Amino acid sequence: MRVLSIESSCDESAVAVLDEDRGLLAHRVFSQVALHDAYGGVVPELASRDHVCKLLPLLKETLEEARSAPSDIDGVAYTAGPGLAGALLTGACLGHALAYAWGVPAIAVHHLEGHLLAPMLEPRAPRMPFLALLVSGGHTLLVEVVALGEYRIIGETLDDAAGEAFDKTAKLLGLPYPGGAHLAALAERGRPGAVKLPKPMLDRPGLDFSFSGLKTAAQLALRGGGVDEQARANLALAFQTAIVETLAAKTERALEQTGLQTLVVAGGVGANRALRTRLSALAETRGVEIFFPRTEYCTDNAAMIAMAGLWRLKAGQSDGPEIRVRARWPLSEAVAPPN
Ligand code: KG4
Ligand code: ZN
Repeated sequence: MRVLSIESSCDESAVAVLDEDRGLLAHRVFSQVALHDAYGGVVPELASRDHVCKLLPLLKETLEEARSAPSDIDGVAYTAGPGLAGALLTGACLGHALAYAWGVPAIAVHHLEGHLLAPMLEPRAPRMPFLALLVSGGHTLLVEVVALGEYRIIGETLDDAAGEAFDKTAKLLGLPYPGGAHLAALAERGRPGAVKLPKPMLDRPGLDFSFSGLKTAAQLALRGGGVDEQARANLALAFQTAIVETLAAKTERALEQTGLQTLVVAGGVGANRALRTRLSALAETRGVEIFFPRTEYCTDNAAMIAMAGLWRLKAGQSDGPEIRVRARWPLSEAVAPPN
C-alpha cells in the first residue's frame, strides 16, 4: 500500500508519500515562519491562505521525488485536527478531492497520533506498548500508547504547553518566533547556576505539568538581572534546565508507575538537545529503551501523518464522503478502527 499525506494544521504545509514496503519515498515541508514573524505568532487567516498557495506545488514536487504517479497511490491521509480550523480545511479539501479524483479512500488523521507514530518512520522503530512524552507547541502529554487508537493520557499540562513556554520566554528574550530552537541556541552560551528558576510541579505528586509560573519567574529575573548578552544566555539556560528537569522527573515517575520499558519522545520540543541528553541518561540508568524520531520527523511534517494514515487504512478504516475537521479533538477520542 502506498499513501499520500497532507499536513496543514498550523503553519507548516507538508506533503509526503509513504510506501508500506519501501518506507518513506519523499516528504516536503514548507514553513510559514517568515510570513508570521512580524506578528510574533501564527495569524490563522494568513496561514490558511498560504496553505492554499503552497500545497499543490508541494504535492507535485513530492510525487516527482517519490517517482510516483497518481495511479500508484492507494489512499490519501490528511490531518483533520486538532489545529486551526481554516488551515485544517485546506488540507482536508485537497485530500478529499484527490481521493475522489483518484478513486481511492481518504483517511482523517489526528495530528497527535501522527506525532506518536513518527518514530515508526525510523529503521529502528519502537514496539507497542510504550510510554510517550509528547511535547509540542500546543501539547505536553505523557501517554501510554497501548495500541493503535488506544492512548491513555496519564499526565498533561494544566496551563501552557512546553513549546508554548519556550516560545513565550524566547519572545521575552527578544528572539524570533517560534523561539524554542533560538532559545536553545542562546542557552548554549549560558553559565550553569548563574540564574535560579523554580522547577515547576516537582514538589507535587502526580504526572501533570504546569509551565506558566516559570514564564513569570523568567520575566521577573529578566527585569532584575540586566539584559546584556550573557545575562540573556544565563536566563535561557536556567529556563531550559527547569523545563528539561521537570519533564525528566515526571517521565521517570510515569515509567515507574506504568512499568513500561520503552520510552518515545515526540513533538517539536523533542528536537531539544538538552532534553534528549537528559532523557537518554535517564533511560540508560533505568534500563529502558528510548526512541527519538530524527528532528525533521519531530517538528510538524506529513511523513508522520502518512504513517498514521497507513496504519488506519490497513486496519480497514476510511472516511465517508463528507469533509470534516475538528479544531479541538482530544487524543482520547482518536479511537481504534472498528474490527
Ligand atoms: O510539534 P511542533 O512542530 O508543532 C506543534 O504541533 O505544536 O512543535 C513546535 C514547537 C514550538 O513551540 C517550537 O518552539 C518547539 O516546538 N521547538 C523547540 C525546539 N525546536 C522546536 N523547543 C525547544 N528546543 C528546540 N530545539
Ligand atoms: Zn505538531
